[in-house]
Amino acid sequence: MSFSIADTAACLDGLLRSRGSVRAFRDEPVPRETVLEILRVAGRAPSNSNTQPWQVYALAGEAIQRLEAAITAVFDSGQLPPPHHFPVPLPDEYGARQADFAARYYQALGIDRTDAAARARQTRRNFGFFGAPVGLIFAIDACLKPHSWLDLGLYLQSVMLAARSRGLDTCPQVSFAPYHAVIAPVLGMPDGQVTVCGLSLGYRDERAAVNGFETPRRDVNGFVRTMGF
Ligand SMILES: Cc1cc2nc3c(=O)[nH]c(=O)nc-3n(C[C@H](O)[C@H](O)[C@H](O)COP(=O)(O)O)c2cc1C
Repeated sequence: MSFSIADTAACLDGLLRSRGSVRAFRDEPVPRETVLEILRVAGRAPSNSNTQPWQVYALAGEAIQRLEAAITAVFDSGQLPPPHHFPVPLPDEYGARQADFAARYYQALGIDRTDAAARARQTRRNFGFFGAPVGLIFAIDACLKPHSWLDLGLYLQSVMLAARSRGLDTCPQVSFAPYHAVIAPVLGMPDGQVTVCGLSLGYRDERAAVNGFETPRRDVNGFVRTMGF
């Protein structure tokens, strides 16, 4: 397909800048064909030796309700699986950014950070994909190594940008990962697959305060060392 690179840069930069995690959605369905179109074009993502290791479960309606019911039953029982998203302790540099994010997030929601019950209620909303009409679960063969997880990450970002280019918004969600043992039977995952993350997909609720806060980024000079230019 031919295109003008100049137009494409402005367009892609716009998509990258306008993508943000959305955690409240309008009650408006997304057609199955649109979801498949997004998942298909995102498949142009590169992968090591073109191995394309991503597996996707695309859910709507009752399928979301079934998954949410199964996970929240475990969540509500208080038998939380140990969180394993970050090492303990998290090095200070990352811990500071995590704390900054949490402060902005809970302030937008009007939740006092010392209110553990309110925070838990918000965490619980992950499992219903924050009310999005479509929920995606991303999985990978457990035998694959970190570089294949990187491939899946490239696919995930491609999905988010392909969604944005169609006026849709997303929220990537690692919160699903600790519930793999609950998710696998509900979705009929084959043995050997592991849940990597979820993704909420739908139309942003513009009125929701939770969609209105900013997440700053490091200055490029803080993480790039240029050499030999
Ligand atoms: C792999 C991954 C997992 C994430 N997991 C969650 C999650 O479980 N719940 C949530 O509300 N946000 C989650 N996020 C969203 C991040 O908090 C968000 O990307 C980050 O704060 C930057 O904000 P932005 O996406 O709005 O630019 C996740 C993001 C990524 C990339």
